[in-house]
Parts: sequence; structure tokens; C-alpha cells
Amino acid sequence: MIIFGGMGDLAMRKLLPALYMAYLHGNLPTPTRIISTGRQDFDREAYLAHVEANSRSFIASNNFNEKTWDGFVQLLEYVRLDVQQAPDFGALARAANPGAQRVFYLSTAPALFTTICDKLAEAGLVDPKARVVLEKPLGQDLDSAIEINEAVGKHFAESQIYRIDHYLGKETVQNLMVLRFGNSILEPLWRAPNISSVQITVAEEVGVGSRAGFYDGTGAMRDMVQNHLLQLLCIVAMEPPTSLSPDAVRDEKLKVIRSLRRFGLADIARDTVRGQYTHGVSGHQEVAGYHEEKNVPPDSKTETFVALRAHIDTWRWSKVPFYLRTGKRMQRRSSKIVVEFANPPFPLFPDMPGGVANRLVIELQPEEAIKLQIMAKQPGSGMQMQQVALNLDLQSAFQQRRAEAYERLLIDVVRGRLTHFMRRDELEAAWEWADPIIEGWSTLGEKPHPYPAGSWGPSEAFALLARDGFAWFE
Ligand code: BG6
Repeated sequence: MIIFGGMGDLAMRKLLPALYMAYLHGNLPTPTRIISTGRQDFDREAYLAHVEANSRSFIASNNFNEKTWDGFVQLLEYVRLDVQQAPDFGALARAANPGAQRVFYLSTAPALFTTICDKLAEAGLVDPKARVVLEKPLGQDLDSAIEINEAVGKHFAESQIYRIDHYLGKETVQNLMVLRFGNSILEPLWRAPNISSVQITVAEEVGVGSRAGFYDGTGAMRDMVQNHLLQLLCIVAMEPPTSLSPDAVRDEKLKVIRSLRRFGLADIARDTVRGQYTHGVSGHQEVAGYHEEKNVPPDSKTETFVALRAHIDTWRWSKVPFYLRTGKRMQRRSSKIVVEFANPPFPLFPDMPGGVANRLVIELQPEEAIKLQIMAKQPGSGMQMQQVALNLDLQSAFQQRRAEAYERLLIDVVRGRLTHFMRRDELEAAWEWADPIIEGWSTLGEKPHPYPAGSWGPSEAFALLARDGFAWFE
């Protein structure tokens, strides 16, 4: 495995710990070599010291084992490489074993993907067995995504390309597929008019941190909605695939993205809300507003929050609103999918409380849970009702450890399983839907609505649902 951007944040925080876990559980083939590349003039010893200082602490202490770590470190190597310099790729080729199965993990700025792939090919490192993993963001818009896809496609067949979206590696997201397609009881209900709305929330407690250099030119729409939230929406909304083969699943997801209603300017003004956090309190601590963060221009209009109402124009989802919401510096970390079912058509019980009777709540993080909220009678002489949750207790049903998304997806790459990665047309269709919204915001010239750090976002995001008679389910 050859990691470009091997000294970067993602490699240290996610990739190496995930590879360590795969190694710990015997999921890496023997022999495996992991070659990190970077511009720093390090020898192996200096590189290992860097890993020791910056990556080791991201392994949960109950999984950390000194002996295993020593064994894992034996797999690590470092090659100094400037992606603009062809001779450096010669050095990489000399370091790589001839004939080995190679995985190239591109975790650099996407602007470098073209050069890296061209130079890998020139250095004779790409063969039909090779695989390439592309980290998001894959481009800034449709045009740049096409450009990257074309450039990578010159050297790698589509079946060799793994476009990673780590949300597809999360346990509960994969479980949602099983819930929907491994059971028959939900399917007859899983459509309009039985479902009245779907909410998808990915709330983060963290702010932009040290990533403003990247984030300010990106914003929440490109960073989260175009990829992670749309992928969640696809899994909720897709038709049953004919098999679990990569193309069967991805064909269905593609149909969903292509059926998303396009936003005109009037829709953007009415059905989308952008926000930006201001100074506030998060996790009992005072925290800076987005404008005060390091490397953020004082007049930045970049959104750190998006809420929107989407529609999927198909028979199944006709008139069912899909509310998407994501933001940084929100009250707490909480990602969930909430499927709200239509209330009984006739209020038989006089004491029926208002609100939604039945909800399926799929919690992704911080805890994984699947709950079905139903009405039950309160004990007593009357017919008083109350919502109670049928709780699928996955924690006690399964004692097995849950792998992190990156670990699971990296093992998929090693084993050649493409189902949980995005296909080119899927990614491009997602940009086709997102681009007009981003362009529309700039045409409308509105500033994002401020919201205090530690809140649930701007009030406009609540009004978006209230207008339709709904409310965000916290
Ligand atoms: C990344 C985004 O893709 O996902 C980050 O670039 C975001 O901005 C992260 O913080 C969230 O991932 P998770 O798994 O912590 O929800």
C-alpha cells in the first residue's frame, strides 16, 4: 500500500490506526508493506518517530498492544517524494516489489491526483492488478470532478478505482441496507404516503479546527452534503438492488441521485438555509466564532451549516420531503436518520397526543442505535397514550467489536470489494445536483445566517420544517 499524503492529518489520524487494527485482527495479507510518501526529507527512523508521536494516540487504548504495534511498525516505510518530480517516482518504483499487488491511496489535495496518476504510470507502477483509492473531496464542482475522473481513468479501469466516502463504511449505514432489504416487514411501508418525511442530520460538535485553509474554500455543502449526506439519502431512498454486486447497488443509488429535483433560484431562496457559527459555548467551554478561527478571512461567507429540503421525483417518494442538515460547532455530535410515518388517518383515541406517532430513528453516532417509536397505552384506567421505543439492542445482541469505517473500507480495498465505494457516474450526478445550489447562493449574494457555537443552527433551519408542519427530531 502506497500512501500519498502519508505525512498528512488523515494518514496519521485515520489511515494508519485503521491499518494497525486490520493488522491486529489478521486482516492484512502477508506480506504487506505500507509505504508512506511525503515531501519531508525524513529517513525511516525520523518517519517512524513522527508516526509514534502523531498516530499512535489515535488507537483506542483497549486495542493498543505494544507487541502488535512493534510488529505493525515493521511494515512501515517512507519514501521522500515530490509529486511534481518524475525521478522521485523512479525511487518509489525501486522501493516497490515487482509484481506485487499495489494499492495507491491518494490522500492529497485533489488537484494533485492527475499528476500522481500520470507519473505512477510513467514509472511503470500501474498494472491491471493495481488499485487506486481516491479521497474526497473529488473536485470542487462537476467540471473539476470530470477532469479528475478522466485523468485517473486514463491509467486505471473503473473496476480499479475506489472513491471513498467513509460514511458508507459506518456500521449503522451498512446495517440500514440489511434492515431494509433483509426484512420484508418494512418494505410495504417504505414509501409515500406511509412515510411523511425523512430527516438526515449530521451534527458535529467540533469547529473547523486547523483545517480552515482547506475548509474556507469548500464549505459544508461540498464537504458534507454533496457526499456523506447524499450517500445516506441514497441508502434510505434506493429501490431494492437485484444483488449486492457493486454495479447493482450503485445503479440504484445513481437512480436516486438522478431523481433528485433540481433547485432553481426560487427553490434555493425558499428551501435552503446556510449558516455560519459565531462565538459561543461548546462542551462547557467558550469557543471562537468561524471568523475568529485561524486562517479564516474576516469577510468569509463560507457556510459551516446547511439545511435544505429535497425532493425525489419518483413514484415511491412523491411529495415526501427529505430534510438534510449538517453543521459544525453544533450543540453536540449527533448523526441520525429519522423516518417519520404518517399518523393514523382517524383519531380514534380522544387523548391522542399531538405530534408524530411512529418514527424509525437510526442513530449513527456517537452511539449506534435503531429505534422504532410507537404509541402504547399508559397503564391505568383511561386510554392515555404515550410514545415508547422498540429498541433494537445491537450492543447486547452482538458482542463483536465494531470496526471503524476506515478500517472496514480499507479491508474492502485489500479484498477488492467495490460495493461501498462510489462509481464515477454517481459522483458526477451528485455534483450535477449540488452545483446549481452553490452557484445559486453566490448569485443571490446572501450571507450565511449566524448561529452561536453550541446551538442547533440558525432559526431559519427550524422555520424550514415548521412551514410544513414538521420539526427537527433531536
Ligand atoms: C469529513 C469532513 O469528510 O468528515 C470533515 O471533511 C468532517 O469536515 C468529517 O469533520 C466527519 O466525519 P465523522 O466520521 O467524524 O462524522
